[in-house]
Amino acid sequence: MSIPNRNETAKKETAEETVEETAPAVPLLRIESVSKSYGAVRAVEDVSLTVERGSMTALVGESGSGKSTLARMVLRLENPDRGRIYFQDRDFTALTGSELRKARRHVQMIFQDPHASLNPRMNVKAILEEPLKAQGVPRAERMQQVRRIMERTRIPAEFLNRYAHELSGGQRQRIGVARALVLEPELVVADEPTAALDVSIQAQILDLLREMQEALDFTLLFISHDLAVVYTLCDRVAVMQKGRLVEQGARDRIFHQPREAYTRELIRAAENPADWADEP
Ligand SMILES: Nc1ncnc2c1ncn2[C@@H]1O[C@H](COP(=O)(O)OP(=O)(O)O)[C@@H](O)[C@H]1O
Ligand SMILES: [Mg+2]
Repeated sequence: MSIPNRNETAKKETAEETVEETAPAVPLLRIESVSKSYGAVRAVEDVSLTVERGSMTALVGESGSGKSTLARMVLRLENPDRGRIYFQDRDFTALTGSELRKARRHVQMIFQDPHASLNPRMNVKAILEEPLKAQGVPRAERMQQVRRIMERTRIPAEFLNRYAHELSGGQRQRIGVARALVLEPELVVADEPTAALDVSIQAQILDLLREMQEALDFTLLFISHDLAVVYTLCDRVAVMQKGRLVEQGARDRIFHQPREAYTRELIRAAENPADWADEP
């Protein structure tokens, strides 16, 4: 995607950043010293990260830096070896059974590859109903909520009985977004949600995410290695390298005044590095 020209901005951000980083509000998500290894591979190593309520926080870093592993732990699809993850000040890592199930309602994920993440034996109705079923929502309400999220995400009603393989990549990811939002979660984790899509379709899915965030007011943790996309979508950025969190801060500070060599490198390697714009 192309990046608009940069405006004069770098100066005023420094003061704002100081206030923002020294006096944070109670965060929606607080990851504290989390580690996870697979055998000898230290996928995530002592990562601490806070995600403020209402923010669009990007998690960036090269392939293999531990972003997806961290995301899976936030979703409790995996448990950390060490450390804790607090959601709304509750220790999410300690929840089990029905408490965990109830808490899951508030944290949902959009996966990278909508083809692999949508069950080929389920039609769109079943896919969108599934999270509601898992939360024990009664049948009559389920259909109402499915219809509402389809309208919101502009999925045509005639798709209800279609299967994922009958849909285009963009339509499939629209279903993936709708499935993540049908419970109106407080936190949405999107793991490279457009990486598997054609460039022309990527923008539509990003626009949808932006529009839905405004309508439904969720907090977004957006994982990407595409800094141009991160720049246009997110207001906070956290940078990972080899399992570690190297830097986090407001978007403009990270892009215009990166503190760490690795962040500078990432930005330099990105498309059009001198032209980060002030406004999307
Ligand atoms: N289930 C797994 N089993 C073994 N190794 C894994 C597994 N998941 C991730 N890894 C390894 O952990 C590291 C981090 O991977 P990942 O979290 O997928 O990074 P990213 O999402 O940033 O590309 C990589 O070295 C990867 O090979
Ligand atoms: Mg990944």
